[in-house]
Amino acid sequence: MLALKQRGEPIACLTCYDAAFARLLESAGVELLLVGDSLGMVVQGQPTTLPVTLDQMVYHSRCVTRAAKRSLVIADMPFMSYATPERAVEAAARLMGEGGAAMVKLEGGEPLVETVARLTAFGAPVCAHLGLLPQSVHQLGGYRVQGREAADAERIEADALALQDAGASLLVLECVPSALAAALSQRLRIPVIGIGAGNACDGQVLVLHDVLGLTPGSAPRFSKNFLVEAAAAASVGLGSEFSLESAIRGYVDAVKSGAFPAPEHCLA
Ligand code: KIV
Repeated sequence: MLALKQRGEPIACLTCYDAAFARLLESAGVELLLVGDSLGMVVQGQPTTLPVTLDQMVYHSRCVTRAAKRSLVIADMPFMSYATPERAVEAAARLMGEGGAAMVKLEGGEPLVETVARLTAFGAPVCAHLGLLPQSVHQLGGYRVQGREAADAERIEADALALQDAGASLLVLECVPSALAAALSQRLRIPVIGIGAGNACDGQVLVLHDVLGLTPGSAPRFSKNFLVEAAAAASVGLGSEFSLESAIRGYVDAVKSGAFPAPEHCLA
């Protein structure tokens, strides 16, 4: 992923929770598969990601890694599974050992520096996650844009640098103003993967169910239904025949060309 950042090629990432989609996403060119704890909401129908257990994350990680041959698989550490560095090491051991993940992701800033250092010292690559932290939704008071105030933006930047210094290999930045994400992507050595963070990040991630229009109600403003777009392209004879794979290819192409996210998907 570092090589992609260094040569300025945007990285395409999607969430993935099972073997069928792991195969499909990989063959459509998705480089990073995130077994997100968003599965609590989009697969289990829960109101938040908080009820997702470590056993469930191990199970879904295993389903994905059985099928993924080339893409890098990142597994989310569920709520409270990394509340201490010791618990984090045990959780990572399961997600990587039993689940087969190549990297683990955790949400939060400076208080996790010791945990990130401990995990990386034991050989567990870490993806940090800053900005909107879905596991802290009750503390944040909702799913809101983060980093609009100067002090919040400064804290996010300081957290990102501290986590990079502690050994994090990637950073997911969720729902922050595009200008902040652009500055961080420039400043950090490690790739920054944005979701609702503008188009100057080193890569993009979306929730698979949003991309395929499977999310009940209205999908987040920063996401896009690529299935509808693929159907429209096929109906006027543009692009390849209509399939789930052509929709995912549409997403990968749009990320690679910089067409996604467009200004209407970006937050200020
Ligand atoms: O769980 C998840 O799907 C995530 C993405 C929103 C980045 O963490």
